[in-house]
Order: sequence, then structure tokens, then C-alpha cells
Amino acid sequence: MQHSKIAGIGYYVPKNVYTNTDLSRFMETSDEWIQERTGIKERRFADRLGETTTTMGIEAAKVAIARAGITAQDVDFIIFATLSPDYYFPGCGVLLQREMKMKEIGALDIRNQCSGFVYALSVADQFIKTGMYKNILVVGSEKHSFAMDFETRSRNVSVIFGDGAGAVVLQPTQKEGQGILSTHLHSDGADAEILAMFYPGSHANKWMPEKPGYPAQELGGLFMTTEQLESGAALPYMDGPAVFKKAVVKFPEVIKEALAKNNLEAKDIDLLVPHQANLRISQYVQQLLGLRDDQVFNNIQKYGNTTAASVPIALCEAWEAGKIKEGDLVCLAAFGSGFTWASALLRW
Ligand code: UT7
Repeated sequence: MQHSKIAGIGYYVPKNVYTNTDLSRFMETSDEWIQERTGIKERRFADRLGETTTTMGIEAAKVAIARAGITAQDVDFIIFATLSPDYYFPGCGVLLQREMKMKEIGALDIRNQCSGFVYALSVADQFIKTGMYKNILVVGSEKHSFAMDFETRSRNVSVIFGDGAGAVVLQPTQKEGQGILSTHLHSDGADAEILAMFYPGSHANKWMPEKPGYPAQELGGLFMTTEQLESGAALPYMDGPAVFKKAVVKFPEVIKEALAKNNLEAKDIDLLVPHQANLRISQYVQQLLGLRDDQVFNNIQKYGNTTAASVPIALCEAWEAGKIKEGDLVCLAAFGSGFTWASALLRW
């Protein structure tokens, strides 16, 4: 059976740099706190009016398409992963199709938050393996800055996230042992409300746990009362320590699952590119797997957590820096809201 390989890769980050000290002008936080707890030094925020999740995705896609040696008209399927779409609906895939003047191909949006790109890669891999498509564009893009609250009440969320986009073109390869070796997808909805944004939604309070700390809400819906808006009910909610505890268990688990499936061990990994959630999480996972510093790539220091975009941005930066060579074993892994988590093992 044919496999799929990454034939082209690109990324785009907005020009506007916001350091930790910049954020401390809006809320009670400090460079010291943010660096110590997360490793983040700065992040990029999109231009408020000029840039959207789709336009950033397009910039990354243009690079990936050119590097794959094809044109936008050769793309035969789009998969777009994001939690911060331009519109509530339709998704970003069709907007990208329109703006890039692509043919009337299929466009699929994936809403799996931090693991969105790895999920998208897995879906694309299945379409390539069956021979259905030959040039699949997979994009992960986020414009978090538009929905973030820069008041102290939201500091545990807003200091972490940043904007950006990454993209790959997946193509078939007949070369045995090259390309995507396997992908592994998981979910556990038991703690779905631990990291979530409840509006707009149809939840009607059905699933909202009665726990202190959860934003007070009465009814889900598309329209909110002024009181609800002012109480911060429309903002993302995160129980950071609970997410951290689960992430440090599930990251190593899903990486080990991928290695075992391919009769490989952690020492065989040339480069692990983990979702950039928190530098402390990456370091913990590195330690648990017994990996050296040169076997793990992190760039959260510069971009913060860009959710669905973090894995392709990091993968592309690592490749551009010459840290990935032909024949290298590359492992991608992600964990986030849902909870959902995933891994992919690739022979470059
Ligand atoms: O992409 C996947 C999704 N997200 C994650 O993977 C996030 C996982 N979790 C984390 O990265 C960490 O839990 C955080 C970085 C979010 C928070 O770090 P923490 O060490 O778990 O801090 P905490 O939430 O337990 O808060 C400790 C203290 C609190 O003050 P008190 O109650 O001890 O007085 C917070 O109010 O730190 C305070 N705090 C801050 N102080 C300064 C929370 N955020 C900030 C801040 N600046 N930005």
C-alpha cells in the first residue's frame, strides 16, 4: 500500500511581537512569573483588522504548496484545523479555497483544538493511503488574540496563547518505510469543561458542572445578556493545573504507543516535535522518555501556545534550521481541550 509523505511545509507568524513585559501593562503579571511557569518570553498577535485565521493559513499554505512543487490548482483536498475560525460557520477551509482560487475540491474543517493538526494529518493520511487524493493541503491556524481578555481575571489564559499558522502538503510515496508510519488518536470527554469556551453554544446548562470557579451561566445560545458578557462568561475557561496533570501522562503514553506500533524505542527518535503547550510540559515529557535536548524541538519561547498551529510551525522551523534530514525519525504529539490527544510517527 502507498504511504503519504510531507512534500512541502510552511509557516506564517504575524509581525506584531508582544513580550511578557508588554502584557504586564494590561494585567497583574510579570515576565518572571510567565517565564518560570511556561517558558514563554513573547508571542505574536495578528493585525486586528488585516489578518484572520484564514489569511494567516493562506500565507503558510502558499509556502507549503511552493515547496511541494505544485500550484494551488493542483490541491485536491483541504483540511483546516482551528478553534478560532473567521466565522462561527462556515469554516475556514472554504474561505481558503475561495481566496486561493482552488478548484471545487472538498474542504473539511477540524475542531480538535491543540491536537487538531495531528488529527488533520491522520485524516489526510487515510485519504492518501486509499488513493482518493494526491495533493492534500493540511493547515493549522489560530487567531487567539481576538477573543482574549487582557484583564487580570483572565491572566492564566491570556499570557499563554499566541497567533500563527502552519501548513503541509501531503502526497503519496511508494518508497517503503518513508513518510507517515502511523498515527494514533484518542479522546476522553469526561473533563470536556475543564478547558472550554461555552459561547456561542446550545448547552442550555446541561453539562455545566456546579463547581466553584466555573463562569456563572444560565443558558447557552448565540446571544448573551449584558450581565453574562460582563461576568466573562464568553471567555475561554481553563483549569490550568488539571490540564497540566493530564497532559504529562497522556503525552508520553501516546508517544510510546506510536513507538511500540513500529517496534521502535524512544532512543530511536531523531526529533520529537510536541505541541507547544508549556515548556515545562515538554521538559517533563522529555525527561520521562529519557530524551536528550537535541531530540526535542521547542519554540514556545517565541510564539506562546498557538494551539492547532503549534505543531506545523515548530516542525517547519526545525526543518528550516536543518534539524530534520532525510531518513530521520520524527515524532509529533499533541494534547489539549476535549481532552483529545494524538501522535504521528514519520520517517522524513
Ligand atoms: O494547549 C493545551 C492547553 N493548555 C495547557 O496545556 C495548559 C496547562 N497548564 C499550565 O500550563 C499551567 O497550569 C499554567 C501556566 C496555566 C498556570 O501555571 P500554574 O503553575 O499551574 O499556576 P496556577 O494556575 O496554579 O496559579 C498559581 C498562582 C495563582 O495565585 P494564588 O492563588 O496562588 O495567589 C494564580 O492566580 O499564580 C497566579 N497566576 C498568575 N500570576 C501572575 C495565574 N496566572 C498568572 C499570571 N501572572 N499570568
